Amino acid sequence: MTGWLVTGGTGLLGANALLDLQRDGRALGVARNVPADASGGLFVRADLSSRAARSGLVAKMGVDHVLHTAAIATIEGCESDPEGAFELNVRASEDLAAQAYAEDARFIFISTDAVFDGESGDYAEEDPTSPISEYGRGKVEAERRVLAANPDAVVARVNFYGWSPTGTRSLAEFFYNRLSTDADVGGFTDVKVSTTYVGHLVRAIRELAATDASGIFHVAASHGVSKYEFGRALAERFGFDPGRVNSVLSTDVLDAPRGADLRLRTDRLRAAIGHDLPSTIAGLRDLQADRHAGRPELLKKFDHNEETHGTFDR
Ligand SMILES: NC(=O)c1ccc[n+]([C@@H]2O[C@H](COP(=O)([O-])OP(=O)(O)OC[C@H]3O[C@@H](n4cnc5c(N)ncnc54)[C@H](OP(=O)(O)O)[C@@H]3O)[C@@H](O)[C@H]2O)c1
Repeated sequence: MTGWLVTGGTGLLGANALLDLQRDGRALGVARNVPADASGGLFVRADLSSRAARSGLVAKMGVDHVLHTAAIATIEGCESDPEGAFELNVRASEDLAAQAYAEDARFIFISTDAVFDGESGDYAEEDPTSPISEYGRGKVEAERRVLAANPDAVVARVNFYGWSPTGTRSLAEFFYNRLSTDADVGGFTDVKVSTTYVGHLVRAIRELAATDASGIFHVAASHGVSKYEFGRALAERFGFDPGRVNSVLSTDVLDAPRGADLRLRTDRLRAAIGHDLPSTIAGLRDLQADRHAGRPELLKKFDHNEETHGTFDR
């Protein structure tokens, strides 16, 4: 085992993955704004939107696993910069998948539940994709190109929450931060997701990577909920008044299109790794335990973007 390369190492998923992987072995993050001497050499600097910067990256790093999380990861971000989104979300993914194949490195590509339109919910991997946003269309195209360039790759369709380096990058932080002030907060009753605690997602990705599985997997919580239910459950778990989470319709608040019911079936994942992931609500227990264990502070060292604090898909 020579180690992992994690793109998007300053993001919600990438930083959490790096924290856990670095405990157990060699793991390097890729980030575009990291100072050359940052974090004790735990990062390599590369803007993955630049073909030159990503050229030969996997070979140079000498790793046998690549977890590719970097993306323009919001629906609004992709709508406002479709060309930039295509270069990073599609071309860079295809390119890194091909590099990993050439180096015989395991490649895990992070896709999304937004490959579906959310009309029916309960989606299986073989259901036809039906994206309704620039973001979702890009991920569908990236999935296709990644698997064409690297038939051994794992494509993980996900939705997750957790603590992040900036403290602002996830749905859990959105509710937690608002509830920590005196303000009430709106939760969408019309958006349902199989959102997974990021610690459980990272563990499942590692388990999948250790199998010889390839192709598309829904790596998701066993029972999804609406974002409103999630907000109320989070409030209860952290001792806030759940009555401060108000029901709101996403269509009254947001402009860009979102699917209503994006819950995912996970039979294929269970067959591959031998178990289900905890439910969305059960994951809150570990979100809380990790807060008490100081995980938010540990993650801060992965934030190299003092000016460009990221956002998330509410
Ligand atoms: N969050 C969710 O619930 C969710 C749901 C479905 C799918 N996903 C997918 O999961 C993956 C990770 O999402 P996330 O929530 O962790 O996203 P995130 O917190 O926004 O992190 C995105 C990462 O990509 C990096 N990045 C952006 N542009 C880059 C560039 N040009 N070169 C190098 N790195 C660049 C960012 O770096 P900076 O810090 O410099 O911006 C950041 O580290 C994405 O592929 C996303 O589409 C997320």
